[in-house]
Amino acid sequence: MDEQQVERLVKEHGLEAEAARSYLSAADEYNAEEERILGGVFGQVSGPVVELGAGRGEFTRELLGNYLKPGQRLYAVERLDTAAAKLRESITDERLEVINSDSVRLPLPDGAAGLVVSRAALHDFVSDDGDVAAALRDCVRVLAPDGVFLVYDKVSDGFADVERESAEGRMERMNVELAALEGRKCWGLHRSGDYRALLEDLGLGEIMLTLLDTPDFPAYVGMTKKTIEEKRKAYVKRWGNGVNGILDGLYRDFDTLPPRALPMVIAWGRKYD
Ligand SMILES: C[S@@+](CC[C@H](N)C(=O)[O-])C[C@H]1O[C@@H](n2cnc3c(N)ncnc32)[C@H](O)[C@@H]1O
Repeated sequence: MDEQQVERLVKEHGLEAEAARSYLSAADEYNAEEERILGGVFGQVSGPVVELGAGRGEFTRELLGNYLKPGQRLYAVERLDTAAAKLRESITDERLEVINSDSVRLPLPDGAAGLVVSRAALHDFVSDDGDVAAALRDCVRVLAPDGVFLVYDKVSDGFADVERESAEGRMERMNVELAALEGRKCWGLHRSGDYRALLEDLGLGEIMLTLLDTPDFPAYVGMTKKTIEEKRKAYVKRWGNGVNGILDGLYRDFDTLPPRALPMVIAWGRKYD
């Protein structure tokens, strides 16, 4: 156990040392399982990789650091201009090309990629009609025959009413409410079976699916409020004053909700000709 990390959690988030140790040990197990599964999939693919919904690039960094081979190209797709520009500035790696585009239409030729992958992005996907399969069809076009489409996302399996049983589950409603302020639809939380159905709908075969149990982070609510407060001004600038009511509602619910984390699904399938 890395005692410096324990100290950081105690100092930054006010955790008891024992709670910090138990969280870190569960997180290590989670990371090892994630690496085993993703490493297995990356071992089967060759050619360029497309990452969908790269956001601030946390997964982009992991892909470059842990899974991509030397010389293997990574196209990181992000629809928001500001996020794409920041991503371009913040990661220097000659294998990376940031593409500022909506997934509905990708500026890549047919069959350009051996793997299309996304993490923690599809539940957050926004489109005019909320039809996530329609938003992803062009991503199947850019996949080469035998290429793999892998989605890795938060799901509500194990919860009867995820918004009332988990602070993170409730938090995800905020994305749906923010998209509605722009007159758009966010796909939102789903169950792992919906991800299987999605891959089938996209015409993929040999579908595999696994559920990862994410460790609860005891300081989730405090940490999330702090992050949101840092961004409140930017939220108001982008979405207008309606954001304040959405945040107040979220904080009221946070007062009564446990910091239960959402499990993650990793689902993947292969493209046939
Ligand atoms: C929760 S964030 C991504 C988190 C990131 N993948 C990670 O693992 O740290 C989801 C991202 O998907 C982007 N996004 C949403 N809809 C999209 C679409 N239709 N096409 C491309 N990107 C989209 C959002 O702008 C946002 O940056």
